[in-house]
Amino acid sequence: MEQKCDIGVLGLAVMGQNLVLNIEQSGYRVAGYNRTTSVTEEFASKRAQNKNFYAARELSEFVDMLKKPRKIILMVKAGNPVDLVIESLLPLLEEGDIIIDGGNSFFKDTDRRYEELQKKGIRYLGTGISGGEYGALHGPSIMPGGDESAYRETENILQDVAAHTENGPCVAYLGPRSAGHYVKMVHNGIEYGIMEIISEIYDILRKVSELRPPEMVSLFEEWNKEHQAYLVEITAEILDREDPETKSPLIDVILDRAKQKGTGKWSAREGLNLGIPVPTISAGVKARFFSALKDERITISKKMGQVSEEVREISQHELTELLKEALFVGIITSYAEGLNLLQAASDEYDYNLDLVAVSRIWEDGCIIRSAHLEKFQQAFNQNEDLINIIIAPQIKKEIKENIGGLRKLVSLIKPAGVPLIALSSALDYIDSFSAEKTPANMIQAQRDYFGAHTYERVDREGTFHTEWQDIHNI
Ligand code: 6PG
Repeated sequence: MEQKCDIGVLGLAVMGQNLVLNIEQSGYRVAGYNRTTSVTEEFASKRAQNKNFYAARELSEFVDMLKKPRKIILMVKAGNPVDLVIESLLPLLEEGDIIIDGGNSFFKDTDRRYEELQKKGIRYLGTGISGGEYGALHGPSIMPGGDESAYRETENILQDVAAHTENGPCVAYLGPRSAGHYVKMVHNGIEYGIMEIISEIYDILRKVSELRPPEMVSLFEEWNKEHQAYLVEITAEILDREDPETKSPLIDVILDRAKQKGTGKWSAREGLNLGIPVPTISAGVKARFFSALKDERITISKKMGQVSEEVREISQHELTELLKEALFVGIITSYAEGLNLLQAASDEYDYNLDLVAVSRIWEDGCIIRSAHLEKFQQAFNQNEDLINIIIAPQIKKEIKENIGGLRKLVSLIKPAGVPLIALSSALDYIDSFSAEKTPANMIQAQRDYFGAHTYERVDREGTFHTEWQDIHNI
């Protein structure tokens, strides 16, 4: 081979293939390797034919094809496969070479790999890539973290490959070690929250309004004028799609059992670990758990029967207005929880995250892209000590305009027995943060009563204990 390749992609499933084509399209020579050679051959002879793509049949051949320092993007399944691939690459690499893990790796795995590889002189970039198959091909949002010098050396390629907005390419160096994968994890947490909010609104439309899916399309289209959100946009398209076999709406023949690969659960768990409430994101995870327990739901729903009451009469017009407002607050709350978790994680793990940059690179290419991301950039630009986006002036105003709708919706729909796990969590999020007083004084009194755990007082400093019981008389 006369000229070496600029970069290599290891793992040629659809995401890997699309990324290869995107990088090649941006003017680079790309090498590719897949463990199953037939996949490589098929790709080379079809989609990548006549392109600046060089297929390797052996791992050593793949590594040999690359310019030094070598740049290798791993597009393999998160978890053990990443470790196995790194192990087999290591004897073939030289000091200074760069490995970019483009999968949804758990951030603690990324920390471990970063450290192990650093000792061996290999530079590691844990990099979240969002946008699904389409994004990989046409411009994803890229969230790299880890070795900064490695980022600087790959920056041109990543910028050329990423989605672009008026504010620049949707990629930025996010911070040391696992910062990139942490940000991607939280991106996915927000994704879970927004998806569940939308799904609950769809559920109300079918169970309470008794609309057929095609009748819901224009509602989501109309609402999306404000959000410009990818997830709302695809919801309208999904509702409009017919099943070619049964001719009924496709959504009606899709089983209500959601799968998940773990990133949402990790986000919720991180909220618990860091003491940061992420109720809407957690609701997204919990709702998927309930959905997965389909057999149990069938049994229990038969035994419990209908546990609902009459829903107060309301016109579709009025309900549509409430749904619109609820959707707004639900979406904003999902972002607020995720961004707040990132603020805490930045302190906890010394990531030094720049939330203006994070909001900027989420503006396009990724699954949670929407018009709101620009507002968040402004909010953090105006006040770098902002404790939560819900109190940024513009966002606060919008929440105040819409929260009444969510509140009314929850109280109206609850009697119908329709679960509103995320919608009611979003409302609780705003209400809990807006409550100067919580009932935690009672929790403290109870703890002190049964365990002498002490409490603080409102009127003076210190810790206090009360002898609640006369133990000598027990
Ligand atoms: C993205 C997505 C993607 C994720 C899928 C499925 O940003 O492109 O977040 O990375 O893998 O959305 O995730 P679940 O299987 O957990 O739903």
